[in-house]
Amino acid sequence: MSSAQHPAAILPSKAAGALQVTQRATPTPGPHDLLIEVSAIALNPIDYYQRDMGFPPLDHYPTVLGSDIAGTVISAGSSVPADAPEPGTRVAAFAPSFFTKGLPDYGAFQTRVLVPAANAVPLPSRMSFGEASLLPMAVVTTWSGWYSIGLPRGTAYTAADKKGMLVWGGASSVGSGAVQVAKSMGFSVYVTASEKHHGYLKGLGAREVFDYKSESVVEDIVKAARADGVTVQAGFDAAGQTKPCLEILKELKGEGTAKLATAVPPAEDTPKVEGVEVKFVAAPGDEEARTEHFHFVFGVWLKEKLATGGFVPSPAMKVVEGGLESIDKGLDELKKGVSGVKLVIEV
Ligand SMILES: NC(=O)c1ccc[n+]([C@@H]2O[C@H](COP(=O)([O-])OP(=O)(O)OC[C@H]3O[C@@H](n4cnc5c(N)ncnc54)[C@H](OP(=O)(O)O)[C@@H]3O)[C@@H](O)[C@H]2O)c1
Repeated sequence: MSSAQHPAAILPSKAAGALQVTQRATPTPGPHDLLIEVSAIALNPIDYYQRDMGFPPLDHYPTVLGSDIAGTVISAGSSVPADAPEPGTRVAAFAPSFFTKGLPDYGAFQTRVLVPAANAVPLPSRMSFGEASLLPMAVVTTWSGWYSIGLPRGTAYTAADKKGMLVWGGASSVGSGAVQVAKSMGFSVYVTASEKHHGYLKGLGAREVFDYKSESVVEDIVKAARADGVTVQAGFDAAGQTKPCLEILKELKGEGTAKLATAVPPAEDTPKVEGVEVKFVAAPGDEEARTEHFHFVFGVWLKEKLATGGFVPSPAMKVVEGGLESIDKGLDELKKGVSGVKLVIEV
C-alpha cells in the first residue's frame, strides 16, 4: 500500500442513506488487478438499493459503492494476462464491489479504483469517458442474461433463420444493451418502450418497438412476429414485467421450450407457464468461471464491437454536475425514475 490518498464517496454504514466524500488510501493492484484513474462514473439502480436499503447485503463497511467507470489504467498487477490493457490505456471497466461484498478498493465512487483485469475494455479514441461509463453494467448484464438462459455465445442467425428475441424495457440501460447484443447475434428483436424512444431503438437494431402502456401490447407483438414468420424462444425482461413476457413467449415459441432472462426478480404471484422457463440474470457464481465470463464480455466481445462500431453506448447520457459530491443527488434522481437516459458523474 502506498501512502497516496484519493477522494472517495463512502457509505459509512449499512443503509446509511447518504454518502460522505472523504480521502482514502490509494491501493496498489493485486496480482490480477488494474488500478484505474477514474474520469466518469455511471449510476445504476443497485447503487441506491445499497445506499438506502442495504440490499443486496455487503460484508464490508464503510464501503464504496458503484459499478460503472471509465478512465485510464495507472498500473497493473504482476500476473495480469498479456492481453490486459496496459498502463496509459483509456478503458471502461466494471468495478466489482458487488462481487467483493463491498471491499472499498473495488467500488466505483472514487477517483482511483481497483478492477480485475478481466473487467476492462480498451476504448476507441473517439469515445468520451462519459459515454464509455454507460457500457460495463449494461453489457455484462446482457451477457449474464444469455449465460442464465444458456444462449450460446456463438449464436449467429441470419434473417432466413427467422429467430426472434423479446426485450421488455428497451429504453433502459440494460434493455438497450440487450437490444444491441441480440441484434448482433442475428435475432429479429421485438422491443417495448415508451413511444418517444421508438425511433432511437430502431436505430439500435430493433425490428419493431411497441408501447408497453398500450392495452394491446401483448397481442400486437404476437401479431407482428407471426406476420414476420418468426419464432421467439428467448426473451430479456429489463423492467420486471415477467407476466406479459411469458404470455408472448408462450404464443411465439413454436416447438420446444422458450427461456426468459429477467433482470428483476419476478413477482411472487407470477404464474407458471408451461414450456417457458424463467431465469434470474446472474453472472457465474464460481470465481474462475466468472473471470472467464467477464474476460469474454470485455476483453473479447466488447473490445471487438467497440473497435468496429458494432456496439454503441446507450441510452442517452445525462451528466449530473458536481463530481463525487453530487452522487447522492444523482442517485435521488435515478430513484425517482429516468426515461431513456443514464446518469453520469464526471470526476
Ligand atoms: N440482475 C442483474 O444482474 C441486474 C443488473 C443490472 C440491472 N438490474 C436491474 O434491471 C432493472 C433495469 O436497470 P436499468 O439500469 O437498465 O434501469 P433504468 O435505465 O433506470 O430503467 C429506466 C427505464 O425503464 C423503463 N421502464 C420502466 N417501467 C417499464 C415498463 N413497465 N415497461 C417497459 N419499460 C419500462 C423506462 O422506459 P421508458 O422510458 O420507455 O418509459 C425507462 O427508460 C433494474 O431493476 C435493475 O436493478 C439487474
